[in-house]
Amino acid sequence: MRIAFFPINKAAEVQAGANLLQVLLANEFKVRSVCRGRGICATCSVKVRGNPGCLSPATPQELKTLSLIVGADASTRLACQSRVLGDGLTIELPQGLYVETLQELLDLIGEEAVSDYLHPVTGAVMIPKAKLITRSQLQLFKSLTDEVSKIAD
Ligand code: FES
Repeated sequence: MRIAFFPINKAAEVQAGANLLQVLLANEFKVRSVCRGRGICATCSVKVRGNPGCLSPATPQELKTLSLIVGADASTRLACQSRVLGDGLTIELPQGLYVETLQELLDLIGEEAVSDYLHPVTGAVMIPKAKLITRSQLQLFKSLTDEVSKIAD
């Protein structure tokens, strides 16, 4: 079965029933999986741009998590919860970078954000692209590491 990735011009052949997160990782996409594939974070979320019926239906847990992710819509799926069932799927990869620890941002203080930096649980933009990263901004995210460790355990 063929699966295409947007916006890059790449495609892959996958086996029926393949887990979408494993497909992304096998194709060297740097997708994070903060909750380790349990369907309770935003980091593996993707948008389905074509043939959504080619994925397994969303589970109640996935629907619950999607309802909490900022910007999620009917095309959003959690890759770790999705299996490829049909041919011709097109997947859009996230447009920002998910942050896993506050330290990642602390290391960038004084620099401009190269991309939107996204919250790993809610998907909200923590630091918008091109914004200068300052220590005072990061005070808003003091609990990030605790939030992540709660869902990673
Ligand atoms: S890895 Fe957390 S929801 Fe998929």
